[in-house]
Amino acid sequence: MDHYEIRDLVKKELVSGIIKTQDFYVIGNWKMNKTKREVIDFLDQVASYDFGSKNHVGIIPSNPYLYLFEQKLRYSKIAYGVQNVHFKESGAFTGEISYKQALDFGSKYAIIGHSERRNIFNECNVIIGQKVKSCVNNHLKPILCIGEDLEKRENDTYKDFLYLQIIDALSNLTPDELKKVIIAYEPIWAIGTGVTATPTQVEQTHVFIKNVLANEYGEVGKNIPILYGGSVKPSNVLELALAEGVSGFLIGGASLEADSFIEINNKLNGK
Ligand code: PGA
Repeated sequence: MDHYEIRDLVKKELVSGIIKTQDFYVIGNWKMNKTKREVIDFLDQVASYDFGSKNHVGIIPSNPYLYLFEQKLRYSKIAYGVQNVHFKESGAFTGEISYKQALDFGSKYAIIGHSERRNIFNECNVIIGQKVKSCVNNHLKPILCIGEDLEKRENDTYKDFLYLQIIDALSNLTPDELKKVIIAYEPIWAIGTGVTATPTQVEQTHVFIKNVLANEYGEVGKNIPILYGGSVKPSNVLELALAEGVSGFLIGGASLEADSFIEINNKLNGK
């Protein structure tokens, strides 16, 4: 074995050591996709699959299928949740779903403030902050999405933008409430485009977010998990997992097929 082969072997061992010990969030965001038949097929493929005990595995389907998740994942490690939730318990809010209804089907997570909610449905930081607060006080784990568009990345104003998204959504939370929050950094230019942020871009941005959280909220802020989302797939998940400050992934397209969802999970189990 020559010098380079030994170096590659050591590197491989090191990587698999890190991957095997760190716990990652692996959360699929199905958006407005799949029919009942397709949901059943997917769940039948994953329900008894061994995802190991290390990672936090979850799938977030469209609301009408939550009952299937409740039925079919009873003995599975896969948690699930909703893609949006209203901050009130019930009432005259046509078209909305409340945290109470989400919980009724066994939901664990609620994606809050996804860029598609912000940009297509005009959700603002204030509403998003109310939703986050309502989740943490009602046993739902909010996955607060933040992320800049291409223009802000290119003209280098994205850090100010991310800072405001964080502060506006989290500043009315107590330290105990903050402990229940998960953040997903999803640069809009990398969502559904096939363009992934490079591991260096991901690392720099996650470290920036981590510093903001630590400066604003101290020890509690430091421990908030930060997921990355944007064209994550089996072929790039490992290099992204090694970037500093990455606690897991929010995965759109590649979570829609059981095979690729399983493959991503296997990679994050060091298999
Ligand atoms: P993508 O979506 O993986 O298809 O880019 C990620 C997301 O929007 O959560």
